[in-house]
Amino acid sequence: MLAISDLHVAYGQSEVLHGLNVSVAPNEIVAIMGRNGMGKTTLMKSLMGILPAKSGSVSMDGAELSALPSYERVGKGLAYVPQGRMIFSTMTVKENIETGLVVSGGSEVPEDIYDLFPVLLEMKGRRGGNLSGGQQQQLAIARALATKPKVLLLDEPTEGIQPSIIKDMARTLKRIRDERGLSIVVSEQVLSFALDIADRVLVIENGEIVRDDPRDSVDAAQVSKYLSV
Ligand SMILES: Nc1ncnc2c1ncn2[C@@H]1O[C@H](COP(=O)(O)OP(=O)(O)OP(=O)(O)O)[C@@H](O)[C@H]1O
Ligand SMILES: [Mg+2]
Repeated sequence: MLAISDLHVAYGQSEVLHGLNVSVAPNEIVAIMGRNGMGKTTLMKSLMGILPAKSGSVSMDGAELSALPSYERVGKGLAYVPQGRMIFSTMTVKENIETGLVVSGGSEVPEDIYDLFPVLLEMKGRRGGNLSGGQQQQLAIARALATKPKVLLLDEPTEGIQPSIIKDMARTLKRIRDERGLSIVVSEQVLSFALDIADRVLVIENGEIVRDDPRDSVDAAQVSKYLSV
């Protein structure tokens, strides 16, 4: 469904991703674990076309995306929940979700989005900036789903969120995958969350994928070593 091949990304002269290869199957949830500064956000931004790639290829469902601007990637079915959520804080909850509808051509927020996130229905008239961190995270996911993606990218969705809400989020993401049949790529530093949701766990270290294991054969102690400073 998503194929990343020999992807190199640099900020000026400084190369941060050194030839990544990752493939994600339809319906699969892949977690990419890595410490601060290892290249998770750089990868997400490059997949979305926010950062240009130096070389390499990104394709979705067989279609090459590398040359496309962000909005066309979204149109082809790639959606993004950025680190720090980046919701529109002066717009209402409903308006935030509606920004995603521009892509899918709808005019009303589909009910199934509010079924997933009942709190957003309750708060649909409230300004995004007045929601709690966990509610804003739900809003950012809802906004991404409004574009009807085939592949959903989430960059450290659990950052700054308390453990009980993290459990809810894991449940909701699995439900989204099961009900909508999409693929999910999530970057993470919380191993328990990754093991809870992912079918495969990858580790990124200094811009390279150094581990790629099916969940059941993940060596938790070894992955933890990559995550501790
Ligand atoms: N705009 C930029 N210009 C130059 N270097 C950058 C820029 N953004 C990030 N970097 C560098 O690229 C490397 C990877 O950063 P990135 O943000 O992708 O890490 P990350 O894995 O997302 O970290 P975190 O867990 O802290 O979010 C770091 O060394 C960082 O300093
Ligand atoms: Mg990051």
